[in-house]
Amino acid sequence: MVKLTIDGVEVQVAEGTTILNAARQIGGDLVPPAMCYYTSLKETGGKCRVCLVKVAQTSTKDPRPMPKLVASCRTNVMDGMVVHNITSPEVLEARKGVVEFLLINHPLDCPICDQAGECDLQNLAYEHGAAGTRYEEDRRTFEKIDIGDKIKLHMTRCILCYRCTFVADQLTNDRVHGVLNRGDKSEISTYIQKAIDNDYSGNMIDVCPVGALTDNTFRFKSRVWFTKPLDAHRNCEKCCGKVVLFMKGDEVLRVSARKDQYGEVREFICNECRYGHKKLSDWNVEGPRHIDRNSVISQNHYEQIDLTKLKKEIDRQIDFEKGKPLPQANPPLLT
Ligand code: SF4
Ligand code: FES
Repeated sequence: MVKLTIDGVEVQVAEGTTILNAARQIGGDLVPPAMCYYTSLKETGGKCRVCLVKVAQTSTKDPRPMPKLVASCRTNVMDGMVVHNITSPEVLEARKGVVEFLLINHPLDCPICDQAGECDLQNLAYEHGAAGTRYEEDRRTFEKIDIGDKIKLHMTRCILCYRCTFVADQLTNDRVHGVLNRGDKSEISTYIQKAIDNDYSGNMIDVCPVGALTDNTFRFKSRVWFTKPLDAHRNCEKCCGKVVLFMKGDEVLRVSARKDQYGEVREFICNECRYGHKKLSDWNVEGPRHIDRNSVISQNHYEQIDLTKLKKEIDRQIDFEKGKPLPQANPPLLT
């Protein structure tokens, strides 16, 4: 085991853990954002740079700082390492710059985008972005592409995080994933369209952190925050069968896999569960879905706020504003 501190909070983790995962063990505000890293997909990370942190001390043996900011999803911890995330103005400034780069070509069409309300880039821009853009050149544009009859690709919204290509590579049978070209000519290639016949291709929708890959069967049906998410399961021979049903009245508008507080799916689902069972009677309903992540979806829903935890969380934020070291995050407010 190795010991390190992140924003003044000490944590002990197994050797070989990345800084990002060490921060996730602490939880709360000091976890760096991540747009390309995905725990359940191998080799992800190192593409988007939103998880940059400052290493003020490399290790007990080597107390020098690392010469530049590092991607926390790709940098392993060392004993005695000192990491700064939200306590470093340099990191916050760099993150703002990364968001500005990500938004150079990304259209601000959140009002008509199906991902609005559950979009990592929307959240990131809200927390770290600048109010305006300095970009004056032409933005790149693409025609919308149907990836089969169930998935719509809006390449203009893609931030090239490569997650969907890893889904195509790791969850489908043939190695047919790819991004074609380089620089601002890069685009998700027709390779990915070849993966549509596979039982697990719908998972590309769930891993996409923005609205580049959306579910054609849900498209424009409802803003996601007007739906009522329910945990449900069925006996499925192909996958775990554990899903979230996004309901409007008695109608199942969308079926997706379950995401954790970092917006990541741990158990992928098959296309039959995703698209083939849109009747409530097809499912064993477990109850209201608790949305772990920071999302507008969890607003106005039928979960009770624990007022004692709410007070603790407010006190914690006030202490932080006063410059006291950031204590460990409180457990989720919703029960
Ligand atoms: S389409 Fe989505 S998941 Fe695929 S690379 Fe682009 S942003 Fe990432
Ligand atoms: S999450 Fe680390 S570089 Fe994208």
